[in-house]
Amino acid sequence: MARKNTAARARKSGSNTMWGGRYKLGPAEIMERINASIGFDRRLYAQDIAGSLAHAEMLVAQGILTAKDGRAIRRGLLKVREEIESGRFKFSTKLEDIHFNVEARLTELIGPAGGRLHTGRSRNDQIALDVRLWVRDTIDRFEVMLRDLQAALIDRADQYSDTIMPGFTHLQTAQPITFGHHLLAYVEMIGRDRSRFADCRARLNESPLGAAALAGSPHPIDPRKTARALGFDRPMANSLDAVSDRDYVIEFIAAASTTAVHLSRLSEEIVIWCSAPFRFISLSDAFTTGSSIMPQKRNPDAAELTRAKVGRIVGAFVALCTILKGLPLTYGKDMQEDKEPLFDAADSLELGIAAMTGMVRDLKANPERMRAVASADYSVATDLADWLVRKVGLPFRQAHHVTGRLVGVASDKGVDLDKLSLAEMQAIEPSIDRSVYRVLTVEASVGARKSFGGTAPANVARSVVEARRRFLGSAKGRSR
Ligand code: ARG
Repeated sequence: MARKNTAARARKSGSNTMWGGRYKLGPAEIMERINASIGFDRRLYAQDIAGSLAHAEMLVAQGILTAKDGRAIRRGLLKVREEIESGRFKFSTKLEDIHFNVEARLTELIGPAGGRLHTGRSRNDQIALDVRLWVRDTIDRFEVMLRDLQAALIDRADQYSDTIMPGFTHLQTAQPITFGHHLLAYVEMIGRDRSRFADCRARLNESPLGAAALAGSPHPIDPRKTARALGFDRPMANSLDAVSDRDYVIEFIAAASTTAVHLSRLSEEIVIWCSAPFRFISLSDAFTTGSSIMPQKRNPDAAELTRAKVGRIVGAFVALCTILKGLPLTYGKDMQEDKEPLFDAADSLELGIAAMTGMVRDLKANPERMRAVASADYSVATDLADWLVRKVGLPFRQAHHVTGRLVGVASDKGVDLDKLSLAEMQAIEPSIDRSVYRVLTVEASVGARKSFGGTAPANVARSVVEARRRFLGSAKGRSR
């Protein structure tokens, strides 16, 4: 009765119906605008309702709510969820956030029992829970998507295990490598990215519910029960930490940043590889765009945008750390500002992973062109130096010197090393014999690099099988 009067009075004065008991007037329009988060936190509706269902069930089990109220709340929450999912729900800025929007509608639907749901709970542990659940769901989605990206990379590595391309340092031709080996480097990076997300997931998987506003609850609640019901390993040990911790958001965005850095490096390589001077690969029609003026153009927009997304994601990381830095315990409204960067970072990365997977799945290499470029610029000079060490017994430093002089002679003549005559070579190092020519091809160069983790086609073929086992959990066959 008293409660009803308060709400009625609040409605009349224009003060907030959820907390306006002691207020005579409603908030200024600008207050409402700066305060409201419903514009973006409506995305948390599924997590919010899942949390409320578990909380209500626990309240009934503990004898805090009657079974009848519990049933009404459950029915009401499912109805609210259905309204939101069918687009019929009317979100209200006056009701600030997702928690109040759901609770207000619940009470409209089921009456005063709706007002009992918030017993032993606060929006502070509620938002901490919702964001935790959202990050956990997102990590689970990324895990599947990153695995798909690895599968696409491994399939291309399999297809191009003996395709020779130039390996670069300083973007200068260094030594011949295989395209498959190059692609498998990214499989390793994405593997570490997956494990960073998995680490983050393992650490975040504790439930903040039960902390209430900050100090815990005088009601006989059972945080273990809600933790179990929501798939958490345990409730958080300290109520103050439970409502103020956003480490998991920082960790998640840090892992997302690292992944985005990897995607941007591969994107940059794709942009370079499909440029006219390189022509190493071509992208499919599905992942390029045309120009409005130059009919011949095929622009790698998806790669460029994936290359750029890292800016927003790393920006979100900086934003989060800056928001939380110096924030006194426990909850501060500052924390509401975590959501937009978090959502933007996650959306950006999700798009980037999907676009990269599509590009990799469709890309076609141009082996003739790659081989031609790999053979130029004395890329087998190191092979010659290594041959001098193995066959002639020169110390490597001296072999390096001799090779340098031979490169000088060839370069003056404008020919490749294998076009120098034996006499020309012997003029510089008399012990060189005819067998040297065998190491002066790009095929011999990559074939010889059989050391563990090296680029030899035989290694790559083995690594493809290994990678499928390590990352995709399959013993053999193509990944998809
Ligand atoms: N909208 C708030 C947020 O995102 C929810 C928690 C509000 N708690 C409070 N005491 N005002 O952080």
